[in-house]
Amino acid sequence: MINPELLTRAQQYAELSKIALDWERPLGNGTDGAVWKSNVDTAVKVLERERGYYNERDAYLRLQEYGFTEQIDDFWIPKLVNYCDDLWTIEMDFITKSPYILDFAKVRIDRPPDFGGPYTYGIYGTPTTLKLAARIAEIEKARHTFIVPSGQAAIALIYLVYCQAGSHALMPESAYANSREIADDLLAGFDIEVESYDPMIGAGIAGLIRPNTKLIWTESPGSITMEVQDIPAIVAAARPHKIPVAMDNTYAAGILFDAFAHGVDVSMQALTKYVGGHSDLLLGTVSVQDDAAMRQVGRIYRLLGLAVSPDDCNLALRGLQTLGIRLKHLEQSALTIAKWLKTRPEVALVLHPALPDCPGHDIWKRDFTGSASVFSIVFQDDVSVERIVKFVEALRLFKIGYSWGGVTSLAMAYASLGRANRNYGRQLVRFNIGLEETDDLIADLDQGLIRST
Ligand SMILES: Cc1ncc(COP(=O)(O)O)c(C=O)c1O
Repeated sequence: MINPELLTRAQQYAELSKIALDWERPLGNGTDGAVWKSNVDTAVKVLERERGYYNERDAYLRLQEYGFTEQIDDFWIPKLVNYCDDLWTIEMDFITKSPYILDFAKVRIDRPPDFGGPYTYGIYGTPTTLKLAARIAEIEKARHTFIVPSGQAAIALIYLVYCQAGSHALMPESAYANSREIADDLLAGFDIEVESYDPMIGAGIAGLIRPNTKLIWTESPGSITMEVQDIPAIVAAARPHKIPVAMDNTYAAGILFDAFAHGVDVSMQALTKYVGGHSDLLLGTVSVQDDAAMRQVGRIYRLLGLAVSPDDCNLALRGLQTLGIRLKHLEQSALTIAKWLKTRPEVALVLHPALPDCPGHDIWKRDFTGSASVFSIVFQDDVSVERIVKFVEALRLFKIGYSWGGVTSLAMAYASLGRANRNYGRQLVRFNIGLEETDDLIADLDQGLIRST
């Protein structure tokens, strides 16, 4: 005899499963919701298997409609560390299967992709990958998140979704350098033109919009030169033309800047950086807020076979448990070090979004809720390139490296970035602050400056 409470819950789950399926159908995961609805036992089983299959936040809202009283709290740090409800556990339940073992034999010949179960094939998601997707969606307040193999894959996916032959797109010149390579190589070959713009353009972007403009890319703060973009002004210019605005929100880890609240249509992150947090992972995300965008992205995502390994997703899920505390520590440490560097006579500018030298500092104050671990300095003109290189090589705790967001502090000297605006010549060094003691890092920079003279 089935407990009546369980019966009600199962019926609600069945309904939820049906809703979830409507969302997932473009990914090829469709199944017959009516079958579930009429079969309470299956519904319970299905829900058990498909935790994380859909956006948890929406699931909660639905449950509330059905009379459930669980609260959705807005405190992101406790959320990152652990969920306090019964849908998430402290331990990660980790499922690696690629081809699933199905518990049915029926093959629908009228609608071949509908096999009647929530997971049919690894490329369309596993419980582990979809759990990570659901958690990122919740943190970013997105409708749906797609997990892809790297930040680079996320960027390429977004261009391939929104641009076709003959399209024009706009990209800030401060965008992650490989985006420019995607544009000049892959996209140019498809007859897609990607025009660079000054990241500080703000509302002036309206003057660059053409009848065939299909996408406006933003990245804030920009890579290496750290310009903070006026996203609301860009969105306001794009809206009347119905041009989607995409944003690389990696710096903010999807947390320090609420992309969707500022009008962005598609937000991407390289989980490789802060979510992974230990420089041992490559993953990316593409998050969207409306159903039409979810279907558009989902279609191309599936066609490109951008599946990810559950092992990697498990690492990212583990990274989420310490992300809040890492970000807090990194913010304080990076700011202390940036302020110390500003006192040095060799340093002309400190390009840290929370400090006034940084272009767009006032926009950062208006739109962001915190700062992260990456920033750059520009040496005075009379500091030679040889001395800058010697300084970077003299550092002991700071390693030399491009990536960021991990536990190890990094420094990198850049040759001319070749940008039309704010070209800092060869005077720029970018830092990633890690989890070492702040005082030790300052001492390391001090000895590096002394030894480089
Ligand atoms: C801002 C930004 N976006 C995207 C990427 C690409 O991420 P991934 O290394 O995961 O391809 C990077 C990598 O450095 C980056 O700095």
